[in-house]
Amino acid sequence: MVTRMAPRVSKLTFARNASSIGIGQQRPTLSWRYDQSDKTTNDWTQTAFELSFERDGKTSKRTINSENNVDVPWPEQEPPLRSREIVKVGVRAQGKDLNWTEWYYKTVEAGLLDPKDWSAKVVAPKVGGPPNLAKRPFYVAKTFKLGSASGPQRVYATALGVYELSINGKRVGDHVMAPGWQSYNHRLHYQTYEIPEGVLVSGENTIEALVGEGWYSGRLTWLENCRNIWGSEIGVQVQVEVGGKPVVVTDTDWQWRYGPLLASELYDGEVYDATIGYSDWQPTKTISLPAETALIAPEAPPIRRTEEVVPKALSTSPSGKKIIDFGQNLVGWVKIRQIPKQSRPNECIVLRFAEVLTKDGEMGIRPLRSAKVTDRIYLGDKAVHDWEPTFTTHGFRYCEVTGPPALLEKYQENLVAVVVHSDMERIGDFECSHELVNQLHRNVVWGLRGNFVGLPTDCPQRDERLGWTGDLQAFAPTAAFLYETNGFLANWLHDLSAEQLKQYDGVVPLVVPNTLDTFTGTGPPAQAVWGDVCVITPKDLHLAYGSTKILEEMWESMTSWFNKGIKRGANGLWENPRNGFQLSDWLDPRAPPDDPGNAMTDQFLVADAYLVGIANTIAEVAAILEKKDAREKYQQAHTKLRKAFQDEYLTPTGRLSSDTQTAYCLAFQFNLLDAQHIDGAAERLIRLARKEKFRIGTGFAGTPGILHALTQAGHLEVAYRMLQEKGCPSWLYPVSMGATTVWERWDSLLPSGEINPGEMTSFNHYALGAVANFLHTTVAGLKPLEPGYRRIAIQPRPGGSLTSASAHTTTPFGRAAVDWKLNDGKLSVDFEIPPNTTAVVNLGGKEEHVGSGIHRREVAWTREGEWPPEPYTTQFAQVQPENTLAL
Ligand code: BGC
Repeated sequence: MVTRMAPRVSKLTFARNASSIGIGQQRPTLSWRYDQSDKTTNDWTQTAFELSFERDGKTSKRTINSENNVDVPWPEQEPPLRSREIVKVGVRAQGKDLNWTEWYYKTVEAGLLDPKDWSAKVVAPKVGGPPNLAKRPFYVAKTFKLGSASGPQRVYATALGVYELSINGKRVGDHVMAPGWQSYNHRLHYQTYEIPEGVLVSGENTIEALVGEGWYSGRLTWLENCRNIWGSEIGVQVQVEVGGKPVVVTDTDWQWRYGPLLASELYDGEVYDATIGYSDWQPTKTISLPAETALIAPEAPPIRRTEEVVPKALSTSPSGKKIIDFGQNLVGWVKIRQIPKQSRPNECIVLRFAEVLTKDGEMGIRPLRSAKVTDRIYLGDKAVHDWEPTFTTHGFRYCEVTGPPALLEKYQENLVAVVVHSDMERIGDFECSHELVNQLHRNVVWGLRGNFVGLPTDCPQRDERLGWTGDLQAFAPTAAFLYETNGFLANWLHDLSAEQLKQYDGVVPLVVPNTLDTFTGTGPPAQAVWGDVCVITPKDLHLAYGSTKILEEMWESMTSWFNKGIKRGANGLWENPRNGFQLSDWLDPRAPPDDPGNAMTDQFLVADAYLVGIANTIAEVAAILEKKDAREKYQQAHTKLRKAFQDEYLTPTGRLSSDTQTAYCLAFQFNLLDAQHIDGAAERLIRLARKEKFRIGTGFAGTPGILHALTQAGHLEVAYRMLQEKGCPSWLYPVSMGATTVWERWDSLLPSGEINPGEMTSFNHYALGAVANFLHTTVAGLKPLEPGYRRIAIQPRPGGSLTSASAHTTTPFGRAAVDWKLNDGKLSVDFEIPPNTTAVVNLGGKEEHVGSGIHRREVAWTREGEWPPEPYTTQFAQVQPENTLAL
């Protein structure tokens, strides 16, 4: 029986905010999803919705005839949110069969919307320590009296540095390293916390904050003693309110003191001394926020502890070190449940971290470069329970433990790894019948978790951990499928555009926040692929989440980059001076360990291919934003640049001047070929893949698109063959070497088992994991045809030796999923289309339009292409043994 009963409305959200408390907009847009898990809602589309607003004791309702459930404007007649206002918002929707859904309610609460709402100031120790050393964390506190006040109890807080808060000895909130890392000269997040019931008492209360240097003034980058990038004094700003009125705020009535923490540094780790008590309270002073800095209620979720991982094994290295293996390269720290009291003076526990072991079984710490990544705990005369560091994270799988033997006696109970990252909602996953491919996908997910910490970083372990723009540009579509990254990435893009437009005259910094020119004094160099993030990523977010807001917000950034930031030559392409340099196809497999940019593909061909691509994207964005003149302007620019690219790099028969996988990949990806070029280019690309015996030949620029390009070139079987390759370099090579995250280099660990000698060798870089997008969209066959998956393509393309695959993601409309199996020459596909969307289903070459619901189809299946495809060898060459390995 087919019903058209209404689905359930689920998850009402306000703008891109992860939380509904402390919203920073007066008129946040509203979005809701649908859940059809307990009902069949075949072919359900929304025709109208009703909103209710319960505020100031009154309820107003409005019905709107609209199919839209994503980014619905706050109704015009509804007054804007006031600072601190709490409104109960309800939504229900009507389908075309005129049935209504149940009401769904969510309470939204505004943050402090006006700078005048703050009476708190940033407090800091009156006398600071030496500015060029790591700053010792300190406490600031105040005891205050409270009458019998009633109403909501809130804390608003931020820091120049990082902080943790407690009231009457109880921790407030579960955030880690708040307020996170922003471009502090422009934007600073503040947090809104609900004070749990019973924490504040009538009478005397004490509020205390622990403050550390964090990113604001801690050591960053590999440059020598690069500290205090944004300021040399750290402090915290706290405002406690009851019933909408401040009851205590940071000012010079607060006092400060030191505690047992001697240091807590991002790269170097924490030093905790249990023998040291607290110093005497001392006077504070107030310091100012940077003049141009806006206090922002974050749309991005906070950093939190998200999982605990128990040790898998304990071993003794050849040199006698005790090493715990957590079985997973992860980011966070190790928590010790029981630290015994000291048995002799100066007794100490040292935890040292590494991602890999060297070939001879010692901690592989060379790739950490100058980062010490070590926690040190001096034992005191009392046992310590549940110790964990406060303002640092480490990227590690292995932990070397030195200390009293009791610590390791029951190590699986006493030590645990705590995983820490920005607490985004997990929305997507993938699985298939090929175990190594599954492990590759798990590695991609762990790479994302380890590097989405406050903002998207390149790596989580060495003296870097910076917001490299090119890495994110490559990985954003994959990330957006797996986690709800909308607020997280929009937030970072806002930092990016603030720096680009206010500081660098249109040039997008290589890393955001930009930490790299502080000491050299020069602005960032304009670099394609990296800087192009300001065009490509907003468009990717629009496609994944369906909101045009990010395009509006980034329009100026895109056009300034294109018109001012990019240095052009006479033909309009990138200026290519003698000794000109582009990072371009960074770290392709032929780049030598000590020269990562020395790639096979001409750097300027790559840069120019991206330039043509972004011209087209800007024209598309202009069309979406209904900017008619701009659309024409950028379309014309695109046509000219495309022609200039062809003149410069392409032969009439489709050969490119760099005869490489990346060059052809980009030609397909950015539509640089005319009809007469396509066969020639496709033939060349396939020849190159076969000639490389299906090893990968791409770096950061070509990797995201290479399997898509092979598929577009009409050779799905070659794409699968490359995906399934295990020899070095390939995606499955690291997996077959035991990797649990995606590596920075194709051979971060060499086939010999040695660590790559390059000084830049991380085992947790997400960029090359961009291949997961191919798994989601082509192998499983689930991709958006219209922004936000309003129209979905269901087109699994089985191939290789896979016999089944599945993927799902929670779209802005609800869950979309595909699950296919091959059996006896038949392809059976189960798929789920969320309410209020439609799908174009393409199976066995037949297209069908399908509405929402849970569906099943079975068709006869014919393999696309020959399996396995033959490598290209001359009669003189011998087939390499690894090419005959089972696929
Ligand atoms: C980072 C990268 C980055 C690159 C560009 C490296 O040190 O780890 O991932 O994109 O530099 O120069």
